[in-house]
Amino acid sequence: MLKYAMIGGGPGAFVGQVHRRALALNGQAKLVAGCFSRDLEKTKRLGLELGLDEDRLYATPEELTRLEAGDVDFAVVVTSNEAHYPNVKTCLENSIHVMCDKPFTHTSHQAVELVEMARDKGLHLGISYTYAGYPMIRQAREMIERGDIGTIRFINCEYPQGWLAEAVETTGHPQAEWRADPERSGGILSLGDVGSHIEHLVPHVTGLVVTRLAARLDTLVEGRELDDNGTILTEYNTGARGMYWYSQAATGTVNGLKLRIFGDKGGLEWFQEEPDHLYYMPLNESTQRIVRGSPAMLPGAQRFSHTPPGHPEGWLLAFANLYKSFCATIEYGEKPDFPDGEDGLRGIRFIEACVESSRRETLWQEIN
Ligand SMILES: NC(=O)c1ccc[n+]([C@@H]2O[C@H](COP(=O)([O-])OP(=O)(O)OC[C@H]3O[C@@H](n4cnc5c(N)ncnc54)[C@H](O)[C@@H]3O)[C@@H](O)[C@H]2O)c1
Repeated sequence: MLKYAMIGGGPGAFVGQVHRRALALNGQAKLVAGCFSRDLEKTKRLGLELGLDEDRLYATPEELTRLEAGDVDFAVVVTSNEAHYPNVKTCLENSIHVMCDKPFTHTSHQAVELVEMARDKGLHLGISYTYAGYPMIRQAREMIERGDIGTIRFINCEYPQGWLAEAVETTGHPQAEWRADPERSGGILSLGDVGSHIEHLVPHVTGLVVTRLAARLDTLVEGRELDDNGTILTEYNTGARGMYWYSQAATGTVNGLKLRIFGDKGGLEWFQEEPDHLYYMPLNESTQRIVRGSPAMLPGAQRFSHTPPGHPEGWLLAFANLYKSFCATIEYGEKPDFPDGEDGLRGIRFIEACVESSRRETLWQEIN
């Protein structure tokens, strides 16, 4: 079994415990060391609860990476966004493979530096773009690859959430507070938090590359400094077009990531809140609902299906699937099949382009 360390994911944190559970589900890696918080007491409290040795609980990520180098197989960085860059860097400097949550860094300059460092040192650098881990997303990717929907003409992807429909960041909400703070979040709020998932998912599934975009970033909640909603028009290297909408102020929505891809021979539709189904709409035929785990699944996708058809899977197993590939690459040299630093870098370049496009407002035409 591989051994890993975690940076971030302290008491009361949101996504760190999800990574720990996902890794435990796979049974491929065991948590052995941590710097879960900037506060050593909190790190110790959680680490002891998790059954870790006290002498492997550290005050700083730098201390952890220096003293654990050679003793852990990889590290997981699940801190707030401002701490991704220094923490991934200290892992790489100490020759530790690393999985970092999204968005990768604050700037593309930082992302380039880390990607180059990982490449030069022969280290694996993963970015946990969760939705790439869903079996039905893999199914969609394989169907597109074998030409089931023909040439892609248009893509529509939306990701609305409603938990920031009020200014909860002013009420001490721990996850909202840093996300709404320009210094800590990297000058963007929902574009980094949920827009980044759209940015990754579309090229991951379709193989297309965004070459041009026009974005409008909105702040819908009064008094908030950063974007909580945004619309983006996209053009791809093949000439296909797209339209993205992301929001965390979409009142009443929960986690409505929806992907729709239209080719000249058919369409595909997937909704994250109903993740075990992929809708295939062949030209001039009735829509087919492909069920996860059924014989209609293609082999590459079936490999990531865990429970029998009709017994729902979900988000936790999507994280586990990312780690399934990441751990197999580290342990057995399996071909990497997880979002990597290049994906993370492309994501940050996309964010920078959206911010710039929105700032310049060049797309608008007044009605006379
Ligand atoms: N992939 C996904 O679907 C997904 C979902 C949610 C969050 N995220 C990402 O995960 C990251 C964490 O988000 P969250 O909602 O769990 O945040 P959170 O505020 O709940 O947790 C962050 C944790 O990191 C710790 N921390 C911060 N700086 C640290 C440092 N220098 N050293 C050690 N610990 C440190 C904090 O004490 C806290 O325990 C963010 O980058 C976010 O974008 C990804």
